[in-house]
Amino acid sequence: MLTRLVSRFGVLYNVGVGIPRRDFLLLAAAAVLRGEDRPNRDMLTRSVRPEDLEMPLSGFSDYLTPAEHFFVRTHVYVPSVNLNEWRLKVDGQVATPLALTIDDLKKLPAVELISVLECAGNGRAFYQPPVPGLQWGNGAVGNARWRGVRLADVLKRARLEPSAREILFDGADVPLGTMPDFQRSIPLNKALDPDTLLAYEMNGETLPVKHGFPLRVIAPGWAGDSWVKWLTSIRVFDQENDGFWMKSAYRHPGRPVAPGTPVPADRMQPVTSLRVKSVIAGPLDGAQLDPGRPTTIRGVAWGGEPITAVEVSVDGGRSWKPAALQSNQRTRFGWRQWEFPWTPPQAAYYTILARARDASGNTQPLDQEWNPSGYLWNVVPRVHVNVGDSAPAPSVTSQTTPQAPPPPPPAFSNCLVCHNDDVIHQQRLTRTQWNAEINKMTGWGARVDDASRNALLDYLDKLR
Ligand code: HEC
Repeated sequence: MLTRLVSRFGVLYNVGVGIPRRDFLLLAAAAVLRGEDRPNRDMLTRSVRPEDLEMPLSGFSDYLTPAEHFFVRTHVYVPSVNLNEWRLKVDGQVATPLALTIDDLKKLPAVELISVLECAGNGRAFYQPPVPGLQWGNGAVGNARWRGVRLADVLKRARLEPSAREILFDGADVPLGTMPDFQRSIPLNKALDPDTLLAYEMNGETLPVKHGFPLRVIAPGWAGDSWVKWLTSIRVFDQENDGFWMKSAYRHPGRPVAPGTPVPADRMQPVTSLRVKSVIAGPLDGAQLDPGRPTTIRGVAWGGEPITAVEVSVDGGRSWKPAALQSNQRTRFGWRQWEFPWTPPQAAYYTILARARDASGNTQPLDQEWNPSGYLWNVVPRVHVNVGDSAPAPSVTSQTTPQAPPPPPPAFSNCLVCHNDDVIHQQRLTRTQWNAEINKMTGWGARVDDASRNALLDYLDKLR
C-alpha cells in the first residue's frame, strides 16, 4: 500500500519510501481521523502530521480550556488503543510487578485537581536568535480539571524497593523511523507527591485520544514533557533514565547564556518546573482605542507555584499598579485570570506590560533568558495600543508582496516521509543550524546523500 501526500507545492510525494512497514500502516491510519479528533478550525496549526495545534489568544477567556481548544503536542502519530487489551504495567525495582486494567485503576481512590499544562517550548517563536523546534507563540498551554488516581497509590500497590529513585514512563506511541522511543522519568519525590496523578478524565469527560486516552501522567507545576500520554508502562529505577529524551532533549542550562551559545547536553539539566508567567489576552497588540472610554486590560497568569499578584504598567514599565485576580480561582496549580480597568486619559501610543509574582516571590524577566532549545519563555508580555488619532495606515508602496518560496530540490521529498513541510517552513534557521537539523533527521532515518545535501541546504537557507 502506498500513501501519497500533496505538499504545499501541489507535488505528490510517495511516503512509503524508507520507513518501516509498521510506520507506514500507522501513517495510513492517521489519515482517517475520528470526528472528535479533527483539528478544530479555531486552533493555530503548527504541524498537520504529526499534529501540533496551538490555542489562539481568545482561549485565555476560558477558565477551564475545553478539550477542543486545548493545545495538542505530538512527537509521532497518535496510537490507537484497544481498552480490552490495554494494561498499565508497573515493574523494575518493585516487590510486586503489576499489570492493571482501567477498571483496576478506577477501583483506587479517585482524585481530581485543576492544573495548567504548558509545553516546555511554549513561546519558542519569540527567542532571538531563533532556535529549531515548533515555533509556538503564547498558546501551547491550557488549564483543565483532571481526574484519576494518585501515582503514589499505584506505586504503593507495587511495593517499591528501597533502592527506588526514579520513575520512567512510556506510552503506546510508536517512534518514527529510527528515532528513540519517547520515554521520560521523574524523581521519586515528585512521583510520590499526592498531586501527581494518572488521569483518565479531562474536564469531566473520558480523556480524549489526542490528550492521551486512556491514561496520562499529570505532573502539576511541571512542563508538559513529563505528562506522558497513552501510558502503558511505569518502570522503577535506581537512577535517572539515560535515554535520548532525558539526556539530550528537554534540557536547559538552568541559567541564561549569551544568545546563540551552544551548550553541551551534559552541562544542562532536565526541564522540570514551569516558570511564573502572564499573558495579556486583551486588548490585542495594535488595537485602536478611544481617549476617555473605559476599557479592560485582561489576561492570565500561572507558574510552578500559585500566583499571588499581577501588576500592569500602561507607560512602558515606568509605573506599575496591581491588577485584580479572579477571587474564585485559588488553586495550587490552575491558572488565574486577572483584569485591570483602564481609561486611556489622552491620545497617545501606549505600551502595556504585565508581570506576575508567585508565592515564592519569583517574578518575570524583562528580557529573554536565551537557551539553546528555546524552553520556558516567560518574559514580561507587552502590547502596543494607539489611542485617539488613528495610526497612519501602512503606505501601499512600503508593502512588500510575500515572496513564494523557491521550488524545493528533489531530495526534499525525503523530508516529507514522516511529517509535512509545515514543520520545516516555520523554522528561521541559519545554514549551520539546518545542517545540524539534517544530521538529526538522518540519524532518525531520513535519506540524504552527500550530493543532495548541498542542494537541500541551499533551499532551506532561503526560507528565513
Ligand atoms: C524518519 C522520519 C523523519 C524524516 C524522514 C524527517 N524527519 Fe524531521 N522530524 C521527525 C520527527 C519525528 C520530528 C518531530 C520531533 C518532535 O516532535 O519532537 C521531526 C521534526 C523536524 C523539525 C522540527 C524541529 C525539530 O528538530 O524537532 C524539522 C525542522 C525537521 N524535522 C526537518 C526535517 C528535514 C529537513 C528532513 C529531511 C532532510 C526531515 N525532517 C526528515 C522525523 C523525520
